Amino acid sequence: MTVQPTQSLGGDAVLWILASVFSAAAQTSGQSSYVAAVYEHRLIWNPEPRVPLSRTAALRHVQQNLDVYEKQAALAAEQNAQILVFPEDGLQGINFSRSSIYSYLETIPDPQQDTWNPCTEPDKHNNTEVLQRLSCIARRHNLYVVANMADLQPCSPGNEPASCPPDGRWQFNTNVVFSSSGQLVARYHKYNTYFEEAFDSPQPELVTFDTPFAGRFGLIICFDILFHVPTVALIEQGVRQLIFTAAWYPNQLPLLAAIQVQQAFSLGSNVTLLAANIRSDPLVTSGSGIFTPSSATYHHARKGDPERGRLLVARVPVLEPLWTGRRVDTESRDESSPFKAADSGHCHQDNQLDSYCTKPPSAEAPASVSSTTFVSAMMYDPFTFVLLNDTEGSLRVCDGAFCCYLWYRRFPPATDGELYALGAFAGTHTKNGRYALQVCALVRCAGSDAGSCGKEVEEAETKMDFLLEGKFGTRYVYPSVLVSQMVLEQPEHLEKTGDGRVTMKHSNTAGGLVTACLYGRMYHLDNEGTSTQGADGLRHGSFEPEVTAEDILPLHQ
Ligand SMILES: *[C@@H]1O[C@H](CO)[C@@H](O)[C@H](O)[C@H]1NC(C)=O
Ligand SMILES: *[C@@H]1O[C@H](CO)[C@@H](O)[C@H](O)[C@H]1NC(C)=O
Ligand SMILES: *[C@@H]1O[C@H](CO)[C@@H](O)[C@H](O)[C@H]1NC(C)=O
Ligand SMILES: *[C@@H]1O[C@H](CO)[C@@H](O)[C@H](O)[C@H]1NC(C)=O
Repeated sequence: MTVQPTQSLGGDAVLWILASVFSAAAQTSGQSSYVAAVYEHRLIWNPEPRVPLSRTAALRHVQQNLDVYEKQAALAAEQNAQILVFPEDGLQGINFSRSSIYSYLETIPDPQQDTWNPCTEPDKHNNTEVLQRLSCIARRHNLYVVANMADLQPCSPGNEPASCPPDGRWQFNTNVVFSSSGQLVARYHKYNTYFEEAFDSPQPELVTFDTPFAGRFGLIICFDILFHVPTVALIEQGVRQLIFTAAWYPNQLPLLAAIQVQQAFSLGSNVTLLAANIRSDPLVTSGSGIFTPSSATYHHARKGDPERGRLLVARVPVLEPLWTGRRVDTESRDESSPFKAADSGHCHQDNQLDSYCTKPPSAEAPASVSSTTFVSAMMYDPFTFVLLNDTEGSLRVCDGAFCCYLWYRRFPPATDGELYALGAFAGTHTKNGRYALQVCALVRCAGSDAGSCGKEVEEAETKMDFLLEGKFGTRYVYPSVLVSQMVLEQPEHLEKTGDGRVTMKHSNTAGGLVTACLYGRMYHLDNEGTSTQGADGLRHGSFEPEVTAEDILPLHQ
């Protein structure tokens, strides 16, 4: 199990070597691998996105970004990439109003209804210059291309099953997929929109496409990754390779930085994630990667790195569906995750934390739990924390009935230096979106006082061996380990018991520990006691009335 950071030091040379290692490994395992590429794009922006443009001016702008895509597709093809993913908003940018984005919109035909190769049949649909160019990029470089653009679907106010906007059109934030011959093979409209004034939320759809080299992929966009629909719904239909286009800003430490979310999701769901994010210093965002349950090739820019794009290429295994049924029982669903199943105990002879494992975690809590805890906001949520005062020890902290346990040993000793805390949160996050959580997190505090615990920090020097455990009311628990300078580590050991206990053990971190997290999502509580508006009063797709996988017709079965 290796995590291979492709940080900026060494740059492309490092990447190339990694790709070679993957290739060598793949040759020994026959045809069951493919070469994936993602491009972290530094956009060429429209400096005044709220000012309406002519179609000609909008196209002139988009073509500048497409020129970059064309160049990157050539580089990816040189490295034998079979699929290349570009990020959300990568062609036009952000901050448009509903009307100012108008000149960027193209009407994207439904590939289920209309077999169309925009490169070879440009005259079939008018006003499709962007689709044509993307299609030709895929065709010219002989690879699948996934890109994100803005779609206009005409509708008639009053005459549609869902209420058509008064201006007679839907506007969707959309992923499009072209096969290596240039055919438009999939179109996905973002469901969980995030403060996007320019776009509507569609009826939920699960969209997948099939490839000759790796089978099926599912499509999600940015904020979608936090929700059951469409993300978990796709996985529950057996999709194990997801394409994630994102404009994930700002970088949300300590729990939801882009690469942290990407790793956690891949590990927690036992799936591959091809994740392309945008790069922007003003928006404070970077972080893209090719994540499988057993490997990660990723990039996160460091402070001071020049602001530019980054192509990542890696050979990865094809993940076959683990089951085909839509309804599966708890036991077989648990097999879909990389967690080892175990029915009792959480101590194994083969690890360095044996000394912390002599008692079951719930059997004996530290005596003074309540007197030593404090509440501090982390990611806007009131976490209950307890400090790690010693060089080694065990701790418990609870938020209501939800408890987290930690055994730890730190180097150097606690006396000099960095402050760490164990935090627990069980409740509904309500800032900038609403989602129900149970989280256990071991974090480095940003400063030397308890009030700084939960605040953003990127560097740490303290190495830590630990066992982190929680007893969750959900089987959707996403693990991650982040060390200094935005480097991920693959947890040594993950385990999940039938009663909801999840254990993550790790030791010998290469860098100082920043965050170790078990991020539990209580999807089943997301819609409890809520209106269809967020705390901010804005409408979000995620606040739609309860939708389950059963309500959604998958487009490709
Ligand atoms: C978008 O709007 C936000 C908030 O007004 C602003 O901070 C940001 O700079 C804008 N970005 C672009 C690219 O227009
Ligand atoms: C495209 O536009 C031209 C000029 O307005 C029109 O003659 C033609 O029928 C249109 N083609 C399609 C496919 O809509
Ligand atoms: C994760 O998926 C692989 C197949 O891709 C499977 O062999 C493995 O058992 C799964 N992990 C768990 C813990 O079920
Ligand atoms: C850690 O030290 C602080 C300050 O001395 C103290 O208030 C707190 O109770 C200690 N916490 C634990 C878990 O021992």
